[in-house]
Amino acid sequence: MVIEERRTQKMEKKNIDWSNLGFSYIETDQRYVSHYKDGEWDEGGLTSDANVVLNECACVFQYAQTCFEGLKAYTTQEGRIVMFRPDLNAKRMADTAKRLEMAVFPEERFLEAVHKTVEANAAYVPPYGSGATLYVRPYLFGSNPVIGVKPADEYQFRVFTTPVGPYFKGGAKPITIRVCDYDRAAPHGTGHVKAGLNYAMSLHAIVDAHNQGYDENMYLDAATRTNVEETGGANFLFVTRDGKVVTPKSDTILPSITRRSLMYVAEKYLGLQVEEREVPFEEVKEFAECGLCGTAAVISPVGKVVDHGKEICFPSGMDAMGPVTKKLYDTLTGIQMGQLEAPKGWIHVV
Ligand code: PLP
Ligand code: COI
Repeated sequence: MVIEERRTQKMEKKNIDWSNLGFSYIETDQRYVSHYKDGEWDEGGLTSDANVVLNECACVFQYAQTCFEGLKAYTTQEGRIVMFRPDLNAKRMADTAKRLEMAVFPEERFLEAVHKTVEANAAYVPPYGSGATLYVRPYLFGSNPVIGVKPADEYQFRVFTTPVGPYFKGGAKPITIRVCDYDRAAPHGTGHVKAGLNYAMSLHAIVDAHNQGYDENMYLDAATRTNVEETGGANFLFVTRDGKVVTPKSDTILPSITRRSLMYVAEKYLGLQVEEREVPFEEVKEFAECGLCGTAAVISPVGKVVDHGKEICFPSGMDAMGPVTKKLYDTLTGIQMGQLEAPKGWIHVV
């Protein structure tokens, strides 16, 4: 497999209004599928069929034995198509699969599968400068009938792609979030892996948040409800008034690849002090800036946190990203889009 070879994509782009895309599903031409049966994965390959047909008793339907990943493909300034740190998605999916008693899709094959799927859908990778990207969604589920509570014996690993714009409407405009009364993840539970079930249980909380006029939920730790955890789909970054970058450390949040990359960028590219530690909710009012970070969210600035009617307004305000958040955003996206030199191994050329 070619990992870091330079190749320009010449495929003609689809006629899509790239700059006005939201974060929603658009069917693309090809997707990858591999089946696991009798203890082994088949050869796998691309298909144009976007539908999955399964038995009514498939483990994924009855006991939610499913997990997923999310990464993006970008067009760089020189017109290359690249992916950002897909090896870390491969590793995280393997960790998730083990926790859910699923067959692990080999990490090398994961890389090959996302590579092939993006290559086959190159016409859907938004052009450089459009603000859009191709979102890549690898997923894995138990596919054979299971009625007693036990793991499946058969699995499908799939990858589809869809072109997307910003996760939050308004792009870089600060959002308002609320402290959520529901928990996202239990101690010793599945909060640290990317299990579909974590998202199923967050759906009521997000619908309720939207109905109350908030963009997202801030989850606190379920055991003590005193420390900041994450949102339903992103980790937190805070900036202290003296310019340090702080991110919550917890065993029950998803280890965000974007957050890990941003902490590195903050320290090594921007010379900032960084701290990964418990963040008591009581401390939130002391911070100068707050952002949500993730593949979909990139860094979405938070202007306000509402705790049961009590507002915490960050000095960065509701109009634009705070200055440190903006620097982090520009540096990370600069690396992803090929304007800045990336640390070794971060950029996978398709
Ligand atoms: N936290 C949750 C719950 C998520 O769903 C995601 C998205 O993947 C993240 C954090 C951010 O992780 P990453 O930066 O790896 O996309
Ligand atoms: C991602 O950022 O890739 C995610 O999986 C988050 C999801 C809620 C869209």
